[in-house]
Amino acid sequence: MITRLQDYNLRTANTFRLDARCDEWIEYTSAEDLPAIRAIIGDRRYMNIGQGANLLFADDFRGIVLQSKILDVEITPDGSDALLARVGAGVSMDAFIAQCASQSVWGLENLSGIPGHAGASAVQNVGAYGVEAGDRIVCVEAYDMTIGEYVEFGHDDCRFAYRDSIFKHERNRYVITYVTYRLSTVPAPVLDYGHLRKSLSEDCILSPMAVRDAVLAMRSAKLPEVDEIGSAGSFFKNPVVSEAKFAELRRQSDTDVPHYRVGEDYKIPAAWLIDQCGLKGYSIGGAKVWELQPLIIVNASGRATAAEILAVEAHVLRQVRDTYGIELQPEVDHIY
Ligand code: EPU
Repeated sequence: MITRLQDYNLRTANTFRLDARCDEWIEYTSAEDLPAIRAIIGDRRYMNIGQGANLLFADDFRGIVLQSKILDVEITPDGSDALLARVGAGVSMDAFIAQCASQSVWGLENLSGIPGHAGASAVQNVGAYGVEAGDRIVCVEAYDMTIGEYVEFGHDDCRFAYRDSIFKHERNRYVITYVTYRLSTVPAPVLDYGHLRKSLSEDCILSPMAVRDAVLAMRSAKLPEVDEIGSAGSFFKNPVVSEAKFAELRRQSDTDVPHYRVGEDYKIPAAWLIDQCGLKGYSIGGAKVWELQPLIIVNASGRATAAEILAVEAHVLRQVRDTYGIELQPEVDHIY
């Protein structure tokens, strides 16, 4: 079923809670709706969104915004200790992860609490606490808006990388309809990130639900709750620098420089760089660098404008560039 609304306010369709309008909003409940939607769009501009959890509407969107309400989930066995879960693109990832955890199914529990829909988990290759969605994705089904055909991508075709996939680069081509995850019915915990292992109480029986609870507790200690404070999660990516640059940072810093090895290079937490620049709590109008995790810019007043968020972003970029010679890259998609 297709629902069409004209001159639609996107405030509830972006987790920054910014007021922005689009010419037309189209929701659809089935992959079979997409040929008709393609005909409706014709040569007009469009974009497909999920929950809008990683978007910054810098302005009104002069075009059509599509949102999937494909909500069915189909689970089939895959050998003796695995399951394949084919999940509609419009399903809330966290609701699906909660359902897996309650049925003792392993695989996605480290991604608990991340806002967003299943479709976006593939686009963005969302990740947290040592797991990326792409690690679990075996197939992505999509509708190719350019040629008007249904297509399937195997894991390797998706070209998953840090917060990246082929779908980010072919944004106006593929509308994702289903994502299939390979999950495990036997224990498969991933506990090596940060304090995750430590934060599980010693006497707890290890289960997907126990890991989910630990992850949710760690997240709520640092990250703003999207239903209460508008944000789009991490605003910047963690930069990767060469060994020479890392050595320079070490010489420049009085404290240890946190890092993760990535091949020959070093990934530096952007949160640390921003923190070292003294920018926690930096604000312009209603937009602010979140004190507890400065990688996040929030709509603190609930009335922040896109211009205020962009001004905070520009200040952070400038300060980190001037202090460390590092050009941060935004993780959030800017929509003009
Ligand atoms: N740090 C500071 N000051 C702070 C906070 C953090 O210096 O106030 C430094 C600390 O050294 C800390 C390090 O930053 O050890 C890393 O912090 P954290 O573990 O919170 O992770 P992150 O690298 O900042 C990434 C993801 C998050 C994800 C966490 C946990 C990116 C861009 N962000 O953040 O993802 O939840 O790891 O896995 O990779 C998101 O994408 O929206 C998101 C929240």
